[in-house]
Formats: sequence, C-alpha cells, structure tokens
Amino acid sequence: KRIAVLASGRGSNFQAVIDAIAAAEIPAVCVGLVTDNPGAYAIKRAEAAGMPVTVIDYARFSSKAAYEEALLDAMRSCRADLFVLAGYMRILGPGIVHEFSGRMMNIHPALLPSFAGLHAQRQAVESGVKVSGCTVHLVDEGMDTGPIVVQRCVPVLPDDDESTLADRILVEEHEALPFAVKLFCEDRLEVTGRRVRIR
Ligand code: GRF
Repeated sequence: KRIAVLASGRGSNFQAVIDAIAAAEIPAVCVGLVTDNPGAYAIKRAEAAGMPVTVIDYARFSSKAAYEEALLDAMRSCRADLFVLAGYMRILGPGIVHEFSGRMMNIHPALLPSFAGLHAQRQAVESGVKVSGCTVHLVDEGMDTGPIVVQRCVPVLPDDDESTLADRILVEEHEALPFAVKLFCEDRLEVTGRRVRIR
C-alpha cells in the first residue's frame, strides 16, 4: 500500500510509522509528508528518511477554502491508499473528508469520545479521570469523532500534570498508530457503521 502522512509539528508519531515501515512491520511505502507548517520538525524527519515533503503554508492563503484547495491538490498528487494524520492540527473540510472517506486515520491523545479537541491531556488531568490513553480513528466530518480503530490506556497518577501525562500517553501513541496503519495496510479493517472489526 501507499501511505502519506499529514503532520503539523514535532512528528514523533510520523517517526514511529517511518520506523515500523523500515522494520518491515508495515507492508507499505510512505510516499511523502504534507505539512501546513514550514517550521515543522516533521520535515527534518521526512528529509532524513529520503521522503518528499510538500509544504502548504496555511499563513500564505487568504482563506481556509483556498488553503484546502491547495491541500486537496497535494493530497491527490500523493496517490495514497491511506492518509495518516500524525499531529495534523487542523480540522479537514468536508470536501477532503468526503474524497478520502475511509482512507484517513488520526491519532488523538485521549480515550475518545472523552476529551476531543485541543489539550486532551490537560482536559483529562483536570477532569480527575483515573485512566486515559490514546485513540486511532478513521476521520469523519466531526472533530475526533470517526470510527475507532485502536485504543490504548495508561493510568493517570495523582501527581500528574499535563506534561507528565502527555509523555506517558505518547509512548502508547507510538505503538498504537503504527499498529493501526499496519492493520489498514493488511486489509484487516472491516467498518460497519461506527464499529471497526479487526479481522
Ligand atoms: C500527539 O500527542 C498527537 O496525538 C496529537 O498531537 C501530538 C503530536 O505529536 N494529535 P507528534 O507531532 O507526533 O510528536
């Protein structure tokens, strides 16, 4: 399978996918990185892995519609079977979601449907929950609402703050995301409504 990655920042989840492909754990080639942020460290990771990078700099567009048109063009050019959102920090418009329906995955640092949106780890700490974790889900038109593929949990400890919880969750993200991508690439995901069965 051909996969492409969308990332806006540090790219540690992107790196986990790169490494799993290099280790032949995922039967795929990563055909490139698309980013909205010219300063993203993810760009360095793509370059180090010899992958093409497309920067669609959000700040250079006069409207969200114009940005999304350019993003859609870039995504089409990838000719990818799967788009992996690995810390891509914008909500995709309905045009893109519709065109790649069932072929986009996102990683979120909470056990959805709890704590969707930004600062999920802070939301978890402040709410007083005793477990949190991460979720890999297919992307639909909502924010962090699509069918759930994989979840992994971690304890929330009494002395945690946003940062210590985020670090603990990140370790699980780096397992969950490559695993979910692997399942997709092996054609092992069967989606019925909101439910994803793993074959
Ligand atoms: C991760 O916690 C991811 O779940 C969230 O943003 C963070 C990105 O980290 N959406 P990285 O860029 O993969 O290192």
